[in-house]
Amino acid sequence: LGSAPPLRLAEKYFQMRPDELNPLWGNPCDDIRHRRIWAKNKRCDTLPKLLVIGPQKTGSTALYTFLSMHPALVANLPNPTTYEELQFFNNNNYLKGLDWYLNFFPEGLANSSQITFEKSATYFDGDLVPRRAHALLPNAKIITILISPSKRAYSWYQHIRSHGDPVANNYTFHTIITANDSAPKPLRDLRNRCLNPGKYSHHLERWLLEYSPHQLHILDGGQLRSEPALVMSTLQKFLKLTPHLDYNKLLKYDPKKGFFCQAMSNEKTKCLGKSKGRNYPPMEERSSKFLKKYYTPHNTALSKLLVRLGRPAPQWLRDDLSTAR
Ligand code: A3P
Repeated sequence: LGSAPPLRLAEKYFQMRPDELNPLWGNPCDDIRHRRIWAKNKRCDTLPKLLVIGPQKTGSTALYTFLSMHPALVANLPNPTTYEELQFFNNNNYLKGLDWYLNFFPEGLANSSQITFEKSATYFDGDLVPRRAHALLPNAKIITILISPSKRAYSWYQHIRSHGDPVANNYTFHTIITANDSAPKPLRDLRNRCLNPGKYSHHLERWLLEYSPHQLHILDGGQLRSEPALVMSTLQKFLKLTPHLDYNKLLKYDPKKGFFCQAMSNEKTKCLGKSKGRNYPPMEERSSKFLKKYYTPHNTALSKLLVRLGRPAPQWLRDDLSTAR
């Protein structure tokens, strides 16, 4: 019987079990054997019961802010590098382990009706996210926000441009979205990052492989923008939150911002920052036409999926499909 130093042993182990190279974290509280060896000073009971998965640029920050106003919902603590988003399930933070994630959730909740939640808008289209999220949070409720994928793509382009992305600053929106497969790689990569999240049905089907439809709430981002109080009322029912708050009293339309903002006690409003609700020129007609055609098969598939799930088609989807014909 022989042995080897730990690193050599580990190498050997993963040669024999390559399927275990990528970890998949489960909840130590769910398995008595894991619970027993989980250190006493570590928690696992404040894991989120609600995930807002995005996609990016659909109003996810507004939703996160409105949800945070509810006394039964406790948001994660901020991440010093990615601010309110933890981005645990979709990138290398996952490899930092469960402790890393848990430390972003407050230790003790004030009462048993409180639940923790987090929002990371890149979860929606992350390949590994549904499987990883389900392994850790099988009973969580999942919220996604959808707006017209063309508008989402354009808003995303404006977003990365303002973050100084060199490729976005060198090419027009139209050049990016129409780049073909012989275009330079950075341009193709940017095109994919811009357009792929908008293939909503494809991504939703991936989430539905892991989570059952009753755990998934599909929210109309157009309505979140124009009638946030109504959206928040439906959402509170879906989440079975108490008390049921009247967001008509908590939110107020700010004509200067052009969006609903938090109503403050002194008749003032507290709006999201400048990067939410940016000012930029309208999309060029040719880009709008191109995207309508591009997204038609994806929007048609979404429409069928919503029928299958017994969910209403949002106004933007009916508009996008009617003008596409
Ligand atoms: P624009 O800046 O392109 O207008 P996200 O938070 O997911 O990044 O989404 C940002 C988008 O949220 C903004 O895109 C804006 O249109 C939309 N939005 C919806 N409701 C909003 C609100 N109450 N305040 C600010 N932006 C809001």
